[in-house]
Amino acid sequence: MDLTPKEIVAYLDQYVISQKDAKKTIALALRTRYRRMQLPEELQNEIMPKNILMIGSTGVGKTEISRRLAKMMKVPFIKVEASKYTEVGFVGRDVESMIRDLVVNAISLVKSEQEEANKEKIENYVLNKIIERLLPPPSEQASQTKKDDYQKLLKTMQEQVVKGDLDNTIIEIEFEKVNIEFNDTNLPPEMAKVQESFSKIFSTLSKEDSKKEVTVRDAKSLLKHEAASKLLDTVSINAEALRRTQNGGIIFLDEIDKIAISAKSQGRNDPSKEGVQRDLLPIVEGSSVTTKYGVINTDHILFIAAGAFHLTKPSDLIPELQGRFPLRVELESLTEETLYKILTQTTNSLLKQYQALLGVEGVHLIFEDEAIRAIAKISHRANEITEDIGARRLHTVTEKVLEDISFNAEDYKNKDYVITSTFVHNKLDTVVANDDLSRYIL
Ligand SMILES: Nc1ncnc2c1ncn2[C@@H]1O[C@H](COP(=O)(O)OP(=O)(O)OP(=O)(O)O)[C@@H](O)[C@H]1O
Ligand SMILES: [Mg+2]
Repeated sequence: MDLTPKEIVAYLDQYVISQKDAKKTIALALRTRYRRMQLPEELQNEIMPKNILMIGSTGVGKTEISRRLAKMMKVPFIKVEASKYTEVGFVGRDVESMIRDLVVNAISLVKSEQEEANKEKIENYVLNKIIERLLPPPSEQASQTKKDDYQKLLKTMQEQVVKGDLDNTIIEIEFEKVNIEFNDTNLPPEMAKVQESFSKIFSTLSKEDSKKEVTVRDAKSLLKHEAASKLLDTVSINAEALRRTQNGGIIFLDEIDKIAISAKSQGRNDPSKEGVQRDLLPIVEGSSVTTKYGVINTDHILFIAAGAFHLTKPSDLIPELQGRFPLRVELESLTEETLYKILTQTTNSLLKQYQALLGVEGVHLIFEDEAIRAIAKISHRANEITEDIGARRLHTVTEKVLEDISFNAEDYKNKDYVITSTFVHNKLDTVVANDDLSRYIL
């Protein structure tokens, strides 16, 4: 959370090429939240987050930026598609459920932190339970020699279990019933309560089969769950999760253009779209949402919306919603040079993925620089003559280039296979030259 804007941008640079403005704006928004948290509470309450609207055509990195953010940031974060929601009163997910999803995300975030912090305790709990079954302790009345033997054996056995030597041994373990969690956050809280009672009833009913024969390997992971629920304090986890959701939560609202209604489109035939926009207003502006874990105030949750806005414009959103996304950033269309960089400079780039995949078959794939340039050039050209689908074009083009090698991989086992620009042109020139062909193939 305390990364500087420069550090955030540097991180994103590893995965997303160009799109400087978008990265900068987002990095700044995140830093502002950090700055806010350092202030006295009174001032904190005054400082509202500035929501962001990212606009850019398809395949230029909007979702990718958010995916990478989610991985990096240790804050509650979810990505949702605006088009998945329906107006309150209609069948489907209502927009408030995104807040409930965010809380669930926060809880698992805090929980895994706690598990990490209490790793040793949890491991000990698991180990003891397993040892108990493998090596029942001697009774009180047992002779001293027996007890000494036990102690000696215990040591070796513990080591063996930890090392994994006994992973395939089968033991019978009695599991304490952990409540079956229904995490259907789609339900309103009242219904969720009903569901909880049901799950309680079911868990008491199924008490008898809580004894199971499992391998030590499986027991390790199954017992971990039980250990965590026993050793960790659920109440404080929930409280911390609520606090973090309210102050640090981020909702990435993808495909927001899909709920805009184009002024041109005939007869506003989809009233529910506008309804969803209206339902979004209070949540984005700040309101209270009841969740299973407590009430969430959405005032300080940051919303980042994104959309291609091909058929609609940001101004097709209802004005109140437009106003709630004051920061606008446009993502650039991808040039040939950017496409080339996406292929060569991103961590785990597409080409590296292919190399790794074919490496499994023993094929050593080598791309000449000129060949990569050719792929970028052809992709860019295909984007121009057919639809501009951004970096996704690289996937189809590269797939086409490597199709045969991929299929006949066993023929090239333990050999170098050099992809030259001639090779790329041979594979693709006829396709690109023919408009109709490229429409279907690339
Ligand atoms: N600027 C970029 N740098 C690196 N990779 C990119 C870039 N833009 C797109 N990609 C790659 O292209 C693919 C599609 O990108 P992404 O999902 O971000 O598109 P999008 O902008 O969300 O499009 P849509 O509007 O269709 O949802 C991803 O695999 C992503 O890695
Ligand atoms: Mg997307």
